[in-house]
Amino acid sequence: MTKWEKMCPVEEIPAGGRKVVPANSLDILIFNTGKRWYACANECPHLGEPLDTGELQGHVVRCNAHGYKMDLSTGNCVTEAGLGVPIFPIEVRDGWVWVKI
Ligand code: FES
Repeated sequence: MTKWEKMCPVEEIPAGGRKVVPANSLDILIFNTGKRWYACANECPHLGEPLDTGELQGHVVRCNAHGYKMDLSTGNCVTEAGLGVPIFPIEVRDGWVWVKI
């Protein structure tokens, strides 16, 4: 069963920022692009390396390990069809970042 989890105060992730928050035995990677927020599992679907050090280009994050790219709007890996990273609904309300896990 999924439910909304309170992740962190919104000011902890300024525009262009990111943060990893542990929740429900997962590491949730949160991005604030300044235009949109994204939340995904902090684990690359290629070989499991963390995604939080990857470069973000628009809504695509590039894993530092081998360069695989993940579309954060769909969760799909754009480098290798059939791979994907779990993504989660995200909202900002009452000064907090919430993710549905
Ligand atoms: S582990 Fe991310 S590209 Fe290989």
